[in-house]
Amino acid sequence: MSINLPKIIGHRGVKDLAPENTIFAINEAIKHKLEWIEIDVKISKDNIPFLLHDDLLNRTTSGTGYPYQYNYEVIKNLDAGTWFDPKFNYLYPPTLKEVLDICSNKKIGVNIELKPNKKKEKDNAEAISHLFKKNNFHCQYFFSSFDLFSIKLIRNLMPNVFLGYLIDNYKDTKNFLQILENCLKLKCFCMGFNIKLINQEIVKICKDNKLKVTVYANKKIRLIEAQELWSLGVDSIFIDDPNSFV
Ligand code: G3P
Ligand code: MG
Repeated sequence: MSINLPKIIGHRGVKDLAPENTIFAINEAIKHKLEWIEIDVKISKDNIPFLLHDDLLNRTTSGTGYPYQYNYEVIKNLDAGTWFDPKFNYLYPPTLKEVLDICSNKKIGVNIELKPNKKKEKDNAEAISHLFKKNNFHCQYFFSSFDLFSIKLIRNLMPNVFLGYLIDNYKDTKNFLQILENCLKLKCFCMGFNIKLINQEIVKICKDNKLKVTVYANKKIRLIEAQELWSLGVDSIFIDDPNSFV
């Protein structure tokens, strides 16, 4: 089995059109005919995997502090929409299970980015693997992370799943080749790069090693930049607003 990555993946749902990592953002992605979405996942105090990008609850919810301080029952009652627009005050941080059920029903692929809080890497990977053992999700999915430890944990817990390693930086080509070696050892099928790291040489090295290439950015990637990335051989680009791509 293999994964055919689409040219565009909705970033945190579609983060420029809706409060990121909410059900509304995922439904917006589906409405805009995106075939895949990306979400960020960490755990609550009672080890429920749910969607949140930051280490803290503060920026995108009405809560404060670290998510592992609260049971999911508390997190579920937080407002995850008002920071974006008060009309979204009814939105909450959904569980990974809810999102996988939607993706299964709608046949949407999902890139689950593991974003554990520090020291919660093991609990996070175990909770996610447990969820997949208990349920039979029908959507395509793959895991990714900037955190090599999380990648290793998932590889041990779920030997056959698709894994991608995300990279925000590397020192030089030698350092990149070491990272690549780790990736291959862990049987990653893909590497995800910050847009600032991408060039023809990097894409070629990945392709020569049969790795797919994804690209993300901290700001919106424009269509003209995306076209250049695709022409280099990049497989998928995380986009914030699909409107500029139609
Ligand atoms: O997975 C690609 C992208 O989501 C990584 O960056 O900070 O948006 O999670 P971030
Ligand atoms: Mg992410």
